[in-house]
Amino acid sequence: MSQSNAVRREIDAAPVPHAQSFELRPLPGPVGAEIIGLDLSRDLTAADFARVHQAHLDHHLLVFRDQRITPQQHIDFSRRFGRLMIHVLHQFHLANHPEILIVSNIVEDGKPIGLGDAGKYWHSDISYKELPSLGSLLHAQELPAEGGDTLFANMHLAYDTLPAALRNAIEGKRAVHSYLAQYGQLQKEGNWRPNLSAQQIAQVQEVVHPVVRTHPENGRRALFVSEGFTTRIVDVPEDESRALLAELFAHSVRAENIYRHRWQPHDLVFWDNRSLIHLAGGTPDHLRRKLYRTTIEGDTPF
Ligand code: OGA
Ligand code: MN
Repeated sequence: MSQSNAVRREIDAAPVPHAQSFELRPLPGPVGAEIIGLDLSRDLTAADFARVHQAHLDHHLLVFRDQRITPQQHIDFSRRFGRLMIHVLHQFHLANHPEILIVSNIVEDGKPIGLGDAGKYWHSDISYKELPSLGSLLHAQELPAEGGDTLFANMHLAYDTLPAALRNAIEGKRAVHSYLAQYGQLQKEGNWRPNLSAQQIAQVQEVVHPVVRTHPENGRRALFVSEGFTTRIVDVPEDESRALLAELFAHSVRAENIYRHRWQPHDLVFWDNRSLIHLAGGTPDHLRRKLYRTTIEGDTPF
């Protein structure tokens, strides 16, 4: 084969992404937009990717409808936004894809196939690490006929609407985040959580983050505490810390801050963990639910 043929063949083989015409429909309310007609199993052009990225920043949560994607395609799309995090509960990694955490209430041969009580308390994914998550992508695999919604609260709005006294009380404060904050309680409430090995516990040492963070891409401030992982505010007396956190938690999840996602088959939901906290609405025990999650690493909160 001549060299020019070899070169031509290589050019032919290089995948050229084609522009896709997709629709962006903001959802009514404080969070979210739907993306209709975009196929994430295909490579996105730079322009399509830029539009998706901007929409994510504008709406904090995107619902990509009807995504018939493989776990590898889910991972590949997620990686375009940053490094992927490997969840400490290796028991619930998808086989051969440790980047995917199985979120499911399904029990097979007496063993849970995934984390059955994921999101039982309001939280921002992996806020208990020095580098918390930028965002997570949750892909519906199997949905219950009823229940199974996921709720999202807008933490920019929560900050903007804080009463002045509360805003002043947390000015410049930092708070402790711990993976173990609710772990024992969750073990008591259900059978989903394995005992952690010494190695797993070593991976989740508590960290300290600002109570109010500035979003590194949109520049807006957001409350960055949650009942799931925040245990106390540093440098204030214990009882004051408890009272402040209770007020902040209650304020964050007022009805006008919330979007309730009702899952449709093959939805892929991509939310911003720097702007939102979220909660599993709960699924009746007798109904099966399974989703796959990737989690993108973010940067140091400031
Ligand atoms: C998660 C999570 C909530 C749900 O996957 O990070 O919190 O409704 N899930 O499954
Ligand atoms: Mn979560």
